[in-house]
Amino acid sequence: MFGVVDDKPLPVCDYAGFAPFGFGYRRCPGEQLTIQVFEDFLRKVWNSGIEFHKLDVADPEPLPIGPTTVIADNVGFIRRA
Ligand code: HEM
Repeated sequence: MFGVVDDKPLPVCDYAGFAPFGFGYRRCPGEQLTIQVFEDFLRKVWNSGIEFHKLDVADPEPLPIGPTTVIADNVGFIRRA
């Protein structure tokens, strides 16, 4: 089952083995908000020609970005001319 708004099926991005927002009755209610935010973010990055670069920072601080993931706080971005 998936949501339908104005006859348009909302995106569904899960299958057995990959269900980042869960399944069924207790499925994440933040799913559509999250998809929209990522869409806006990727559109902004693409349309503005934003490029991400590793910064030359001595001893960058460890930055937790998920329950099991820590990255170095040394990522910056520039806007392509
Ligand atoms: C990358 C972003 C997100 C991911 C991967 C995610 C993933 C999940 C997952 C796997 C569940 C459990 C679903 C289940 O039990 O079948 C869940 C539940 C939930 N999520 Fe999210 N979520 C995200 C963002 C959000 C946001 C932005 C909100 C609120 C604005 C939100 C609100 C909730 C709530 C309230 C529940 C509990 C639903 C219930 O137990 O009935 N989530 N989420």
